[in-house]
Amino acid sequence: MIIERFGVVGCGLMGSGIAEVAARSGCDVKIVEANDGALQAGMERMEKSLDRAVRAEKISDDDRAQVMGNISFSTKLTSLADRQFVVEAVIEQEEAKIEVFRRLNDVVDDPEAIMASNTSSIPIMKLAMATNRPQQVIGVHFFNPVPVMGLVEIISSLLTGDKTAALCQEFASDQLGKRVVSSQDRAGFVVNALLIPYILSAIRMMESGFASAEDIDAGMVLGCNHPMGPLALCDLIGLDTTMAVAESLYEEFKEQLYAPPPLLSRMCDAGLLGRKNGRGFYRYN
Ligand code: 3HC
Repeated sequence: MIIERFGVVGCGLMGSGIAEVAARSGCDVKIVEANDGALQAGMERMEKSLDRAVRAEKISDDDRAQVMGNISFSTKLTSLADRQFVVEAVIEQEEAKIEVFRRLNDVVDDPEAIMASNTSSIPIMKLAMATNRPQQVIGVHFFNPVPVMGLVEIISSLLTGDKTAALCQEFASDQLGKRVVSSQDRAGFVVNALLIPYILSAIRMMESGFASAEDIDAGMVLGCNHPMGPLALCDLIGLDTTMAVAESLYEEFKEQLYAPPPLLSRMCDAGLLGRKNGRGFYRYN
């Protein structure tokens, strides 16, 4: 089955990237945001990303126009009524996501439609239970920057239907061209359960004066050939998102390695959230 009518709730870093890859694959994409300002910011982010793809000669100017033509923007969740597949990509907060699923349950007409979450760490079961069709609810976790990263994690809850999982697998691999890995419904899934303790260790190392941010990052880039160091990566992910994922992991497993270090917490309190607002472990223009 080909997904033709795709919806995204939330047009932040992840939502705009997910909408872009779906539109590039030929889907008709509707994006919903809470207000016009957030929609405008999402649209600009997507335009910049497509400009980059044109400059890199991955797509032509005509393709770019066609991709933008495949996307429509709205501030009304009811505009997603006719969608076959909706991905929620709002802020990484359990209550906010549960509320979106509760409303999607009322809005999406097709009883067979898939309602997926791009959550980084919140158990899918908690979102599924906000609906009366938990067999249609699943985790579909993308990576930032979405147009560049080749992976999608698929997370079935105890109640997700086999048909839903198979359709998601097919959509992510055949339509979007991503490599799919499957994970059980455990906080952090496969990648963040491994990545977040690594980033938290780097923050603790810096916080204790063991080494500078620059040296920690250079160590992992030049010593291990990672594309970026853990602190630069934390800035890319967003310190608030890193904090939220660490809290979910800590709540689930109660293991010290997932506990957010005080420096991360203070930086979030101070609004030093990384690239998205110009300052985290580094400063950005
Ligand atoms: N949007 C679209 N394309 C982008 C992009 C963006 N935001 N950023 C970079 N690109 C493209 C460029 O066009 C370029 O394409 P090309 O090779 O075909 O010309 C390619 O990516 C490389 O870009 P640059 O040369 O400008 O920059 P770098 O070589 O420094 O790469 C990077 C940038 C791709 C971000 C690289 O540093 C990287 O892969 N970093 C690691 C990212 C990562 O680990 N992401 C996962 C985060 S965890 C997560 O998302 C899960 C969540 O739940 C927390």
